[in-house]
Amino acid sequence: MITLNLNGKDHSLDVPEEMPLLWAIRDVAGYSGTKFGCGMGLCGACTVHVDGQATRACITPVGLAVGKKVTTLEALHADPVGQVVQQAWLELGVAQCGYCQGGQIMTATALLKGNPNPDDAQIETAMAGNVCRCGTYNRIRAAIHVAADKLKEGQA
Ligand code: FES
Ligand code: FES
Repeated sequence: MITLNLNGKDHSLDVPEEMPLLWAIRDVAGYSGTKFGCGMGLCGACTVHVDGQATRACITPVGLAVGKKVTTLEALHADPVGQVVQQAWLELGVAQCGYCQGGQIMTATALLKGNPNPDDAQIETAMAGNVCRCGTYNRIRAAIHVAADKLKEGQA
């Protein structure tokens, strides 16, 4: 039995420590917003925050997240930066099929928390591990700029 702090609450999960965090989140704790894509750390569909860092849940053993704060897309509305990122995504109609977008939003939020005003090259570097089969990359970049502008306005 492990205790996982997930979306602000402690969850007691009867899982082995080596189980991928993604399985524990989706199949055991029941948060299905985090998606399975490649299962090998290559696509970013499974991105969550572990202590604020964008983390690939498919290749992270759940035991490594014990004692840390895990946040998934379901709780991002409670995060002031996450909220602004989600708003920008909606305004620009970023999603096409949507499958990759939860991971994209989690990575974009982690980026903006660390760097509130990234340039195109910094966005490209931060988002490079998040693949979109629908090719929404230009809209993702634009939405990150919109979110950065909104965050700046909010601080003014
Ligand atoms: S499912 Fe985790 S990186 Fe692809
Ligand atoms: S919106 Fe379809 S995979 Fe990204």
